Amino acid sequence: MDDVSDGPDLRHSGSMDLARMRLDYTEHGIDEAELHEDPLEQWRRWVRDAVDAELTEPNAMVVATVDDGVPRTRTVLAKGVAPDGIDFYTNYTSQKGKALGKRGPVSATFVWLALQRQITMVGTAHRVSDAESDAYFELRPREAQLGAWASEQSHEIESREVLNVRFAEFDQRFGDRVPRPPHWGGYRIIPDEMEFWQGRPNRLHDRIRYLHHGDTWSRTRLSP
Ligand SMILES: Cc1cc2nc3c(=O)[nH]c(=O)nc-3n(C[C@H](O)[C@H](O)[C@H](O)COP(=O)(O)O)c2cc1C
Repeated sequence: MDDVSDGPDLRHSGSMDLARMRLDYTEHGIDEAELHEDPLEQWRRWVRDAVDAELTEPNAMVVATVDDGVPRTRTVLAKGVAPDGIDFYTNYTSQKGKALGKRGPVSATFVWLALQRQITMVGTAHRVSDAESDAYFELRPREAQLGAWASEQSHEIESREVLNVRFAEFDQRFGDRVPRPPHWGGYRIIPDEMEFWQGRPNRLHDRIRYLHHGDTWSRTRLSP
């Protein structure tokens, strides 16, 4: 075992007393009768609650991919919801883009700590159509559009200066209309499983899992 005695003991270090930090979750419960039968519609309601609560980046999710057996996670922003899934945008040549390719297995987690809520999902990410990626790219401010050209996401670069120079070059090259880079676009996470978690008192949390079967979803309660 590693000798950890040299480092700070984070279990008992003043205001960082992690072992004794404890919140009792009393905000809400999950009333199964009120849950929507479609988990994507239920997801929409919980995002709406996070927006209404004015949480920072209420649409942020942590997306996990697997590449050659190595799991990797990172945060992205949900930018749309379709009847069958949730969209995010990225660089197709990034680490996650390479792991997913045109379609690949994915898992994602939304957490809203202030609401004591989490949604997790497992499914497949598919590239959205070029038309859908174009439509979202058009909505981005010009600087964000240029950023998508300037950044070879997840590739090593020598310095920040390299990025600034590339940004300036693309700024010069394009006029008012910046086209979408061919290596940049959306993925739709199409879940086959979604779980809604709500913190409850005494660690007896609510967990409701939806499973997809053909055109319908079944719903069960899991022990916390
Ligand atoms: C709050 C937040 C939002 C982010 N949103 C995105 C996003 O929508 N798309 C994206 O490609 N990266 C986004 N990132 C950056 C990613 O977390 C990540 O660093 C980047 O996509 C490279 O990931 P990869 O090397 O695993 O492909 C965001 C990061 C944070 C912290």
